[in-house]
Amino acid sequence: MLHVILGIETSCDETSVALLERDGNVRVNLIASQIERHRPFGGVVPEIASREHLQHLFPLVERALGDAHASWSDVDSIAVTAGPGLIGALLVGVAGAQGLAYGLGIPIVAVNHLEGHIYSPYLQREGAATPLPPRFLALVISGGHSAIYDVRGRDVKQINRTRDDAIGETFDKVAKFIGLPYPGGPQIEKQAREGKADVRRFPFPMPQFKDESLDFSYSGIKAAAIRVAREHDVRADGDSATLADFCATFQDALIAQLFDRLDSVWSRIDAPKPAEVAIAGGVAANGVLRERMLAWGETHELVVRVPEKRYCTDNAAMIAFAGLQKGSPGDPRRVAARSRIA
Ligand code: KG4
Ligand code: ZN
Repeated sequence: MLHVILGIETSCDETSVALLERDGNVRVNLIASQIERHRPFGGVVPEIASREHLQHLFPLVERALGDAHASWSDVDSIAVTAGPGLIGALLVGVAGAQGLAYGLGIPIVAVNHLEGHIYSPYLQREGAATPLPPRFLALVISGGHSAIYDVRGRDVKQINRTRDDAIGETFDKVAKFIGLPYPGGPQIEKQAREGKADVRRFPFPMPQFKDESLDFSYSGIKAAAIRVAREHDVRADGDSATLADFCATFQDALIAQLFDRLDSVWSRIDAPKPAEVAIAGGVAANGVLRERMLAWGETHELVVRVPEKRYCTDNAAMIAFAGLQKGSPGDPRRVAARSRIA
């Protein structure tokens, strides 16, 4: 008999279900993406997201069991995303998990979506997970978050955050403005590959704070990008060379802001510093960022953990894995969905 934990993720626009063994081995990780359903609106429509989760969740759970050659009796516990996220979407996952847990007589562990991302770089091998180091720095860069965490086992301390927009949101909003389809991050990356950064033509000032803040800020870059795009008539259906160069410069500016703050954070951490730095979240799928991150690690002589691309964007394997880190699943009645988690 197998002993697996069932992971359920429905916080945004991906319905995902995973089965993990206790050592972190991912037996199956299924994702039903709703991107096509939301694309006509240029962003996620919460009502549609909830309805799609309702439709896909249970069939996905059944498929996961089939793919893993597992049966209901192999499932020991359930890890479900309790927040943060779209409340209607979260409720579908939490209520579904509660129903299953009641029916099966098994406990639930509620997982913070961000913790899912934070540990995801250690899910990178097929087979057992990479052992977690005693301490690591995690950069969570997604559509909803940009923050750096100091992680010691189950103790997660936030070091900084974004003051305004998240990095992924900035990719998405500027992409939408120039007429590229949702989600914008991968589209901008694709265009940028054909172009060359040109900061003289497309200037993006690095945001500076008067205080000594370590926080990220992306709204200034977003505003500058929209202004510059308008001035140069940058459009998805316009001149392709201009579009490609604009995207390359814009992508560079977003990544430069990330490293500017990471450098500040790193210099302020007292020795002994963490031996590993990890990136996670949808934007961690960006190829240019991944390369620069690995180079940053070499310069600083430390291990950089970059998640497999399939574990960067939202997925249930990372939720089940975070559930395993948290341990002690409990009474299904005590799990509550929260759109915001402090
Ligand atoms: O982690 P995720 O799936 O959802 C949130 O929790 O937000 O991240 C989605 C975000 C979107 O903003 C998307 O544009 C961005 O990740 N993204 C990328 C890339 N792939 C996804 N951004 C830049 N480059 C990429 N290759
Ligand atoms: Zn996410």
